[in-house]
Amino acid sequence: VFDRAIRPTSLADYIGQPKVREQMEIFIHAARSRGEALDHTLIFGPPGLGKTTLANIIAREMEGELKSTSGPVLEKAGDLAALLTNLEAGDVLFIDEIHRLSPVIEEILYPAMEDYQLDIMIGEGPAARSIKLDLPPFTLVAATTRAGLLTSPLRDRFGIVQRLEFYSVADLTRIVTRSSSLLNVPMEPQGAEEIARRSRGTPRIANRLLRRVRDYAEVKADGVITGPVAAAALDMLDVDRIGLDGLDRRYLLTLMEKFGGGPAGVESLAAALAEDGGTLEDVVEPYLIQQGFVMRTARGRIATPQAWLQFGLTMPESLKQAL
Ligand code: ADE
Repeated sequence: VFDRAIRPTSLADYIGQPKVREQMEIFIHAARSRGEALDHTLIFGPPGLGKTTLANIIAREMEGELKSTSGPVLEKAGDLAALLTNLEAGDVLFIDEIHRLSPVIEEILYPAMEDYQLDIMIGEGPAARSIKLDLPPFTLVAATTRAGLLTSPLRDRFGIVQRLEFYSVADLTRIVTRSSSLLNVPMEPQGAEEIARRSRGTPRIANRLLRRVRDYAEVKADGVITGPVAAAALDMLDVDRIGLDGLDRRYLLTLMEKFGGGPAGVESLAAALAEDGGTLEDVVEPYLIQQGFVMRTARGRIATPQAWLQFGLTMPESLKQAL
């Protein structure tokens, strides 16, 4: 069974993110009543929280088609022009990783967003000409893990900006329960809660762990995901009791043991971990910060008292003074 079998397809089926849901319901309803395209929408937040899912839902609720692409894929002006000229009124153009758009493409996007105008140069040298085309009213839905990396002229052209938050254990429990019934996996409520607690606040991780716990339950037990079966499976998968994975733990231990708890720059940490700095910023740190293990300061990252406590390590006196 594929991911799309368990993805929600309407706002009514979308669990969690109550503020986003409430606002989008109103904006979509209003645009539809006026017979207009929904305003351009920017969705940002850590990976796996449902940005693409939300783009699909917006297209469906607006009864338009979704055409998808991503920032790094759009290399030439013609790539974007081809997509834009294929749109029909009310369609949604989804651009994932919008922070990786080239400046040339960005320039074309401005008049397209603002005035539904395509304005491009064709040819080169003395024969070069500029052509203008009217585009149908469409909605650009863009997603990024790094809203801070967007240029302000681009950011300013989105009428709707939504930030996705990590999900509560209660919401993740409902998501895992919904997925298990769509996948016909027998699961007890304690099993769902155990998976939810260990999913880093992230539905994509919860659904992935559900599939692996199902494998474990089928091979090592009688196929039913009970609390203890889920706990044993997740221990085997190296996901700890509070949902930190291997990289989370290596990050925290490196920050505490190699950098004395900080402050450490993200690039120094990345080098020590042999990881990419962007991955640490986009994927690892948001959850550790939200959980209160790490603080971002002007001078670098600091391991909080809670991090030292969690790993049974002693926080240096000098660091306590600094906090
Ligand atoms: N599956 C993944 N994310 C979901 C969500 N937010 N609501 C319902 N099902 C989901």
